[in-house]
Amino acid sequence: MHHMKRIGILTSGGDCGGLNAVLKGAAQMAHACGAACFVIPKGYAGLYNLKDFDSLVELTPQRADLINPYLAGSEAGHSRVKIKKLDDEHKYTRIKEGLKKFNLEGLVISGGDDTGSVVVDLAGQGIKCVHAPKTMDLDLQTYSVGADSTVNRIAMFANEIKTTGNSHNRIIVMEVFGRYAGHTAFRGGIAASADAILIPEIPVDFDILYEHVKKRFFERISQSDVKSGTYLIMVAEGLKDAAGSEFVDESAPVDAFGHKRLAGAGKYVGQELTKRFQKDPQIPELMKREKMYVKGLYEIPEVRSVSPGHLVRSGYTSAFDVNFGKEAGAAAVLLLLKGMTGVTVVGISGNRIKYMATEQAIKERYADLYQIAFHESTSICFGRKPVSVQVEFTQISGLIERHL
Ligand code: F6P
Repeated sequence: MHHMKRIGILTSGGDCGGLNAVLKGAAQMAHACGAACFVIPKGYAGLYNLKDFDSLVELTPQRADLINPYLAGSEAGHSRVKIKKLDDEHKYTRIKEGLKKFNLEGLVISGGDDTGSVVVDLAGQGIKCVHAPKTMDLDLQTYSVGADSTVNRIAMFANEIKTTGNSHNRIIVMEVFGRYAGHTAFRGGIAASADAILIPEIPVDFDILYEHVKKRFFERISQSDVKSGTYLIMVAEGLKDAAGSEFVDESAPVDAFGHKRLAGAGKYVGQELTKRFQKDPQIPELMKREKMYVKGLYEIPEVRSVSPGHLVRSGYTSAFDVNFGKEAGAAAVLLLLKGMTGVTVVGISGNRIKYMATEQAIKERYADLYQIAFHESTSICFGRKPVSVQVEFTQISGLIERHL
């Protein structure tokens, strides 16, 4: 099939669940095919500095055995370094020298869109590399390892925060990672039965959101035998304000991929709601109706914004991501050994390894507006007047392609 005997593996971009499964799957498949797999530490920073390493860790069967695929993060380590941006005219030569030093003939590279753009770049420079898709943001054309784990964790945090929300009768705004696509907020929010989900794909009308909050929050309290109620709003960090501007942490520098750090969307949503509570003459009446009102101290509902931040991509990996990660790592090795380069693993199906050009795979994918409208019709607020979509029914005949 091939003559490649030594391959390198690296993980790059933001870490998340499933990366250790990619490492393990790749190492085990490489061994099965008679090739040795070596870890290039800290993503592209390690690749650029490969030349200066004295030795690399080989993922022998014994070493691969020690990798716990159930733990999130990556034993190979991460950095956000974009090779193209490095101010070094000899950067590609330097990388090739590093690869030569360790006789590495090809690379398995796991990462998201920025990482994938470097795969395209390196493949164009004649470096053989295959991309195992990874990003908790789920914004690639393919499924990406880490997304399921993150959605599970978002759902868990959001469900759990309702205990304090209900105890204090507070409205909770939870801002979650996901960059400019709303997948994680959308799917995590649905799983946690959020009352409202605000994502970058849909410009928010705060008056519509406010009416939904007010109605549902007070209804809940009124229907509770112990006068308890909360309202949960899941917010994607990439949300934009009315003027179309994103919320960025100006105090933080851009990362090595050149991205601004997103932060503050949840806080903004909280402020917009509080402003409306303060101005609404019906609010004191509703507070009195529910025996919550205390003059000067507690006249309007409290809104709290929280952000689990990096916790959504830490901790443990879902079983789905362990499966996908192992398959993606192993399939990437097979593609590499077959002589492929500049391609991304899509998945395995039966005896077929599906892949696509990395250039295509990294095109940003947004949340599906039909699916949003579907859930919107079940009375979740997406910060707009509900859009009604005609559903269609399709009978499927024959075999269905499944992942698990
Ligand atoms: O791209 C993955 C991601 O988790 C985004 O959702 C988030 O905006 C970003 O990384 C955070 O990056 P960092 O870990 O570098 O702060």
